[in-house]
Amino acid sequence: MNRLQGKVAIVTGGGAGIGEAIAKKFAKEGASVVVAGFPEDPVQAVVKEITAAGGRATAFEGDLSSQAVAEACVQTAVGQFGQLDILINNAGAFPAATELDEYPVEAFEYMVKNNIYTTFHMSRAALPELKKTRGNIVTAGSEAGHMGEPMNTPYGGTKGFNHAFTKGIATEQAKYGVRANCVGPGPIDTAWTHKETGPMTSQMEKQTVEGVPMGRRGTTEEVANVYLFLASDEASYVTGAIYFVDGGVTISKSSSGAQVPADLKKEPAGELDIQHSKDGHTEIRHDDAGKMVGH
Ligand SMILES: NC(=O)c1ccc[n+]([C@@H]2O[C@H](COP(=O)([O-])OP(=O)(O)OC[C@H]3O[C@@H](n4cnc5c(N)ncnc54)[C@H](O)[C@@H]3O)[C@@H](O)[C@H]2O)c1
Repeated sequence: MNRLQGKVAIVTGGGAGIGEAIAKKFAKEGASVVVAGFPEDPVQAVVKEITAAGGRATAFEGDLSSQAVAEACVQTAVGQFGQLDILINNAGAFPAATELDEYPVEAFEYMVKNNIYTTFHMSRAALPELKKTRGNIVTAGSEAGHMGEPMNTPYGGTKGFNHAFTKGIATEQAKYGVRANCVGPGPIDTAWTHKETGPMTSQMEKQTVEGVPMGRRGTTEEVANVYLFLASDEASYVTGAIYFVDGGVTISKSSSGAQVPADLKKEPAGELDIQHSKDGHTEIRHDDAGKMVGH
């Protein structure tokens, strides 16, 4: 408890999936949290749940791939809580699963906006504040950014950007006392990895889980635990790192997960009151004029 006492954090994509768990974990550990997401994400619900449990949080709604919105998000943290210590670049999208020669160009552009522009604009806007507090950034990478992602090749590319971008920030900003790291999840139990709520077919879903030596998806809380460590002062000598939270998928050579007995495939219960792990969106969003949301 209290590993983030007195800290102020922004969690992008904080209304659903992994972001919900990060926001709740950070609040439980004493941070004041800006829960940021698209207006139709359950950011208000997550804020209510955090405050009902005795934590401090505020909602920020907008498309964080825009420079002006990203700057307004940082100003919300400073305006409401007086400073910014931690930026969590968790927002992202996984809108399609198909071979490259048939890959929709719109889905590629959507991922560039939501996986790359969000990270760039939020990091750029946050740095002046993070320099004041000697704070840090933790960004969502992925095992796909390390290994590539068949059936969603551009997704792996956007996550590879986040890995290299983070290492550059870590080197450049160390002289100001600012750290930057990545978390690289494997398949996590959110909307994206279920055929009912994401673009995966049942065959892809099966292969995805069996490719994990531990034979199961990770929980959102298991990922949030690693974000917590990297964002806390306990990680004071960790910068430019990519921490994989992937059940071993990056070292896997076969469908070793198929051999795991059922009792070992059970997900741990965790301690957080998780309500929105499957409320994330994978589909492309458009505004009222039918234009893809973004720049
Ligand atoms: N789920 C997985 O298996 C997995 C694996 C590896 C990496 N990741 C990474 O973890 C992060 C979270 O994934 P998730 O499964 O929790 O997804 P999710 O869809 O459940 O949550 C992501 C949230 O980010 C929001 N968001 C996206 N673009 C935004 C924008 N421009 N402005 C504001 N909000 C925006 C979405 O609306 C959504 O609420 C992503 O960056 C993803 O690439 C996930």
